[in-house]
Amino acid sequence: MSTSPSSGGQALNDWSAAQYLKFEDERTLPARDLLSRVPLTSPKRVVDLGCGPANSTAVIESRYPNANLVGIDSSPDMIRKAKATLPHLDFTVEDLTSYSPQGEVDLFYSNAVFQWLKKEERFEIVKKLMATQPSGGVFALQVPDNLAEPSHVLMRKTATSGPWAQKLASVGRDTFQTPLEIYDLLKPISSAVNIFHTSYYHALENHAAIIEWVKGTGLRPFLDPLQPEEKEGFLKEYLKGLQQAYPACEDGRVLLRYPRLFVVAVKK
Ligand SMILES: C[S@@+](CC[C@H](N)C(=O)[O-])C[C@H]1O[C@@H](n2cnc3c(N)ncnc32)[C@H](O)[C@@H]1O
Repeated sequence: MSTSPSSGGQALNDWSAAQYLKFEDERTLPARDLLSRVPLTSPKRVVDLGCGPANSTAVIESRYPNANLVGIDSSPDMIRKAKATLPHLDFTVEDLTSYSPQGEVDLFYSNAVFQWLKKEERFEIVKKLMATQPSGGVFALQVPDNLAEPSHVLMRKTATSGPWAQKLASVGRDTFQTPLEIYDLLKPISSAVNIFHTSYYHALENHAAIIEWVKGTGLRPFLDPLQPEEKEGFLKEYLKGLQQAYPACEDGRVLLRYPRLFVVAVKK
């Protein structure tokens, strides 16, 4: 696989742990909120699905220091960073679409990952993994619910209205299942399905910081196919749109509203 010269070995189009961690504190807040709603006091085996650079794994470890805790992620750069951060834990490069656990897992935990899977695959995977869990085991996941936010609407608008439109014609994320759909999918195999929603308001330094934020996640599929000069043009247009959509606060900061959806299911 080819690598980018500036990335220290990170494969082209791979996730970048460094870019992702620019907003580590903000990105880790929902990881804590998700974990706080897991009704287990001392799970023996825990898997962090899509562990990224191990920020979420560290949160799990601090609540369950005695658990056998492992992390999987499809990104080599993320796993490299995860291993460097928590060298005493086991992290492996694995794709959720082909992953199967070895033995019973009390807690499957997944923060900000399932939105990246194809819509029809997401809950097939959840149900497949829950089928391997003991009764009382928990599956906890959180996904951003931000496709209708200006940050994401403008990404798609910019994609359709420039010389790059053809290249980006098929880029975009599938909408996530609604709470009703999720409840109906999981209830037959669960004793409880708890669904909740939180909107975070992140006070970012300026509009350019919104771009830095989404460059680590949702903007990646739009920028990856573009040549450097196209990227520059895209980002200029996108920034213009953000400046109109997000009024600045009195101190010059910009509030990025970030709604997120949480699901905690207990295996029947
Ligand atoms: C937004 S990051 C979340 C990282 C971390 N869990 C956190 O709480 O911040 C999403 C992660 O999902 C991983 N990912 C995306 N699709 C995946 C898949 N099919 N299988 C495994 N990991 C995947 C990415 O590599 C990335 O590290």
